[in-house]
Amino acid sequence: MMEWKKMLVLGGLAGLALTVAACGEGGGGEGPIVAPPAPPAEYADKHMPAGWWADPKIIEEGKELFIGGKNPDVNCASCHGKDGKPVKAGARDFRVTDRMKLYSDSVWFWRISEGVPNTKMKAWKTKLSEEDRWKIVAFERNFGLAGKEWDAEKKDWVPVGSASAPGAPAAAPAGDAGVAAPAAAPAAPAAPAEAGK
Ligand code: HEC
Repeated sequence: MMEWKKMLVLGGLAGLALTVAACGEGGGGEGPIVAPPAPPAEYADKHMPAGWWADPKIIEEGKELFIGGKNPDVNCASCHGKDGKPVKAGARDFRVTDRMKLYSDSVWFWRISEGVPNTKMKAWKTKLSEEDRWKIVAFERNFGLAGKEWDAEKKDWVPVGSASAPGAPAAAPAGDAGVAAPAAAPAAPAAPAEAGK
C-alpha cells in the first residue's frame, strides 16, 4: 500500500518536472539553435516589399494583425505573446536574436504562410493576404532584429537602409494598393504560393 502511494507521488513529481521543463527558461520551444530548413522553391524568392522594413505605418499594421486587433481569428500573440515572450509552450520566441537571425525573410514568410507541420503553428495563408503576412514579418522581426533588414544578396541581416539588394519590387504605397506587384523576384510567377499547400 505504502509503496503504491510513494510511486504515485514520484510519478506526479516527474510529470511536473517535465511540464516545467517544457515551458521553462526563455519560453517554450527553444531547443538548440539551429538554422531553419530552406524554404521550398515557391517561397525562396519572396522578399519584403521595398521600403517596408523601415515604414512605421506598415509595422503598426503588422502589430495590429499580430495581436488580433484587426481579425480576432488571427491572433499570433495568443501563443507568441504581445511582447514576443511566448505564452504557450513550444511557441517560437522571436526575441532570441541568435536564432532569428538565421531566418531569412523568405523563411519567415513561408512559415507564416504554410505553418510548421505537426506543431500548433498552423498555416495562415487562407486568413492573411500576402501583404498582411509581410506586414506581420516587418513587425515580428523587431522582437529580436530591431533596426535590421534582410539583405537578399548578402543573405544576412544588415542595418535598415543598407541592404545591397533592394526589396521586392512592390512599391505599393503604404496601405493597400490592391493588386500590388507580387512580392517576388522578377520573373518568378506569384501564383504557385497561393495554389500550393
Ligand atoms: C496556437 C498557437 C500559435 C499561434 C496562434 C501562432 N503560432 Fe506561430 N508558432 C507556434 C508554435 C508552437 C511554433 C513552433 C513550431 C516549431 O516547433 O517549429 C510557432 C512558430 C512560428 C514561427 C517560426 C517557425 C519556425 O520555423 O521556427 C513563426 C515565424 C511564427 N510562428 C509566426 C506566427 C504568426 C505570424 C502567427 C499569427 C498569424 C502565429 N505564429 C500564430 C504557435 C502558434
